[in-house]
Amino acid sequence: MLRTHTCGELNLNYEGQIVKLCGWVNRRRDHGGLIFIDLRDQYGITQTVFNPELDKNAYETAKQLRTEYVILIEGKVGKRPEESENKGLTTGDIEIFSNKLEILNDSKTTPFEIDEITNVNEEVRLKYRYLDLRRKKLHNDILTRSKITFWVREFLYKNNFNEIETPVLMKSTPEGARDFLVPSRNFAGKFYALPQSPQTYKQLLMISGFDKYFQIVKCFRDEDLRKDRQPEFTQIDIEMSFIDEQDVMDVASGLTQLLFKKVKNLDIELPLRKLSYKEAFEVYGSDKPDLRFDLRIKNLNSVFTNTEFNAFKSVIENGGEIACIKIEQGNNFSRKQVDNIIEDSKKAGAKGMAFFRYTENEIVNGIAKFLSDEEKTELKNQLNLNEGDLCLVIADSYEVTYSVLGLIRLKLAEQLNLIDPKRMELLWVVDFPLLEYSEDEKRYVARHHPFTSPVTEDLDKLETQPQKIKARAYDLVLNGNEIAGGSIRIHDTKIQEKMFKALGISKSEAEEKFGFLLNALKYGAPPHGGIAFGLDRLAMILTESESIRDVIAFPKTSSGLSLMDNCPSEVSTEQLRELKIKTLSIK
Ligand code: AMO
Repeated sequence: MLRTHTCGELNLNYEGQIVKLCGWVNRRRDHGGLIFIDLRDQYGITQTVFNPELDKNAYETAKQLRTEYVILIEGKVGKRPEESENKGLTTGDIEIFSNKLEILNDSKTTPFEIDEITNVNEEVRLKYRYLDLRRKKLHNDILTRSKITFWVREFLYKNNFNEIETPVLMKSTPEGARDFLVPSRNFAGKFYALPQSPQTYKQLLMISGFDKYFQIVKCFRDEDLRKDRQPEFTQIDIEMSFIDEQDVMDVASGLTQLLFKKVKNLDIELPLRKLSYKEAFEVYGSDKPDLRFDLRIKNLNSVFTNTEFNAFKSVIENGGEIACIKIEQGNNFSRKQVDNIIEDSKKAGAKGMAFFRYTENEIVNGIAKFLSDEEKTELKNQLNLNEGDLCLVIADSYEVTYSVLGLIRLKLAEQLNLIDPKRMELLWVVDFPLLEYSEDEKRYVARHHPFTSPVTEDLDKLETQPQKIKARAYDLVLNGNEIAGGSIRIHDTKIQEKMFKALGISKSEAEEKFGFLLNALKYGAPPHGGIAFGLDRLAMILTESESIRDVIAFPKTSSGLSLMDNCPSEVSTEQLRELKIKTLSIK
């Protein structure tokens, strides 16, 4: 080792000792006769002092130092003079009187300061990611992530799980998102796909008799990115045999509880609460409701069953839903603010949004003039209206009404400052529909994935009423983020075949795409199920970071670029020739 100690280690117990430290120059202060260097490494900062009377050479070399130079110093640990201690540092009571200094490497001027929170734009920070990672918060969050993976492994090994790696080059299977493809050189015109998740492999491992599997694994999805999505991300992937939903949920809840304790010293009470998909959607407008604030959605269909108000009448007649959010004391929202919310609801897909206010025991403004006295009385009772309340109403299809009110609910929470950022709200969402109809594809698609088992009671509906089937699936939600999702799988070939049929996947297509799995299911597949956590999302929330980029050492931008090494990039004609690939410029 070049050093005897780290920069975060020394205190008064070491007073008088001769030590060697290495690190980066965090700051240099020239106080006439003395030069002070704050020396930084991963563990902390130690102040070192160069005094020409102690060593002329070291002092002269110290004059050349600039921030981010890498140096080795040797010297004696001394107590800092009274009142010059730094209580913010663990090493704040001491300083090193250095008599030796070696410059291990110099540094160009960095494009942004390392030790300050500056307003550097994210593109520059991503381009110089290796420098950004020197900054304290980011650096520590990456270290916390490292500890999280350690605790995950420790917890799962203790619970008899085995970590098994699965291929990164696999067969392209339609799992939900778009695949990233890798051309094969040996088999021109054929492609590998990067796994969207190790879903099929972990099921095959169950068939191979591995009882409890896990893997901390990279997954790849070529989809539109958002704050909480990256094209490559990491899952904590789990699969178990001879279990039911509750067993998987217990393991996942236990793991979450442990991580909260370890990272945040917070005690999470188990069992976690459960909400059905129906309730989550109809009360919070989302399948991943943020329960850190209330602001519930209230259905109003019964108020308007016989309405004469045309806009609502047609919705009721067409089997749609009328629902609202009541903002207590919302009367201080100006007309302009209400108009902005209406605009937001249109952008989110609603045809429009109605509103009314409650003042002096009367429903007024907005749609008030279209409502009968009876309807007004009903609204007053059902919504428990009080002086100053504002109600925002959407009348549309089931999907649109609740999902748009769900989005408005989130916007309002931000606007009204309803979210306590320290609060953590975990819950399970269960009883999902197995399938949903895709207008784009004009067929049913699996809500989770095509291997998710229907609940036993609904099996006979697979061919007759696919939209009514519930799935044996569960999602773990934290503060409005889906941090894990899983299900009990189909282990019976016949049911799996029926499922493909319901999904509009023909026998030959199923054979072509999933033949290996269908075949494997025929050789004594055990009942099994599992779950996968999004490690990046979990780490983002546990470290109170803004985006999952902050907990990924080398992330991509929201358009999928790596600005540091400029990828994706063009490749040589020679490389393309080897792969027998010609590129087209498609406009
Ligand atoms: P699912 O698709 O729900 O399930 O993914 C599991 C978890 O992975 C995280 N996640 C992502 N994180 C960052 N960027 C993305 N693009 C991204 N996509 C998903 C989410 C999500 O909850 N094979 C199943 C799991 C199973 O059934 O066992 C699967 O992949 O936190």
